[in-house]
Amino acid sequence: MDKHFIPLSVPNLKGNELKYVTTAVETEWVSTGGPFVSDFEAKLAQYVHCPNAVSCQSGTAGIHTALIILGIERDDEVIVPTLTFIAAANPVRYIGAEPVFMDCDDSLCMDPVKLRRFCQEECCFKNGKLLDKKNGRHIKAVIVVHVFGNMADMESILEIAKQYNLKVIEDATEALGTYYTTGTYAGKYAGTMGDIGIYSFNGNKIITTGGGGMIVSENSDYLKLAKHLTTQAKSDELYYTHDMVGYNYRMTNLQAALGLAQLEQLEQFIDIKLRNYREYSKILKNIRGLSLLPFCDMIRSNHWFYGVFCGEDYPVDRDQLIHYLAENKVQSRPIWGLINEQLPYQDARAYHIERARYYWKHVVNIPCSTNLSNDDIQQVGALLDIGKR
Ligand SMILES: Cc1ncc(COP(=O)(O)O)c(C=O)c1O
Repeated sequence: MDKHFIPLSVPNLKGNELKYVTTAVETEWVSTGGPFVSDFEAKLAQYVHCPNAVSCQSGTAGIHTALIILGIERDDEVIVPTLTFIAAANPVRYIGAEPVFMDCDDSLCMDPVKLRRFCQEECCFKNGKLLDKKNGRHIKAVIVVHVFGNMADMESILEIAKQYNLKVIEDATEALGTYYTTGTYAGKYAGTMGDIGIYSFNGNKIITTGGGGMIVSENSDYLKLAKHLTTQAKSDELYYTHDMVGYNYRMTNLQAALGLAQLEQLEQFIDIKLRNYREYSKILKNIRGLSLLPFCDMIRSNHWFYGVFCGEDYPVDRDQLIHYLAENKVQSRPIWGLINEQLPYQDARAYHIERARYYWKHVVNIPCSTNLSNDDIQQVGALLDIGKR
């Protein structure tokens, strides 16, 4: 088998990307004012069955904006997962609030059992406010991440949020296209069940604009404010008066041109992701000690990122596997380092982090790009069968 480099997750730009970007250039609409931006917003909103959407420069900018819209202020607390990309937590600190780190369950998403226990045992609920018993801080919101395209247990999390008057931000940056097929939220897309949902179009995501994000909500006031905040909070276009501290967060027409072309291919990408996931599944079934992380039963997942779990009976550990794959031109990586253990957050509150640490120790992400060939998958599979070598 020919051994070319197999990257972890790279863009697939074989649709109308060049055509639409060329139009943007030819019409000289390259900045935030162009028509592709509002078109991309409308089409994305339509895809996830939301009334509207507001574009932004990145998923991180979207989460930052969402926190401001929901009234999170300095010294408030926000519950965030520890097992995710750090961009889900950093915006909490941008506004001077404090994260409280929560553990995951076996879906790798936030554990609702621990979330409830934390609210019951570590907080008191007074006059409609959830207060952290340790420091009296007001816990106003929870950021739920749909890790790798899986779905967090939204039914339980939304019930807890309602009981304790918590706002819910869904970080659906990795889960565009994932939706419930059964249960209370059947037909609902990841990102559309909480107060505000965020998508990312970073280079490694299921669709990409190079960099970019989208804010969705059922609440039109939130979206109006999102547009205002992401466009420098201009209250008068002609005289340049501003009524808030705004941000230069709006997506450009060039990015939106890419986004529109990518969105046209999203369902096709999801089909490919599923097909490749099944192919890996077949191979991994026969490898002792190694298993592919599953996606929840009640959903149609976008199958964005694949994780393999290295069990105790696998011949090598996580790091040995990563190095072995690298030596053989296959890019892989461990799951993110837990956020509560990172330098800026070592003093932050973390609630009984156990499962996250366990998964951190055992999970390796393997190549999952939509342009993987079947030969690539067979090559990665053969390398994973390390006991046979
Ligand atoms: C879970 C999670 N949250 C937030 C982000 C931030 O998105 P962006 O890179 O678009 O800022 C990402 C990805 O990059 C992510 O994976």
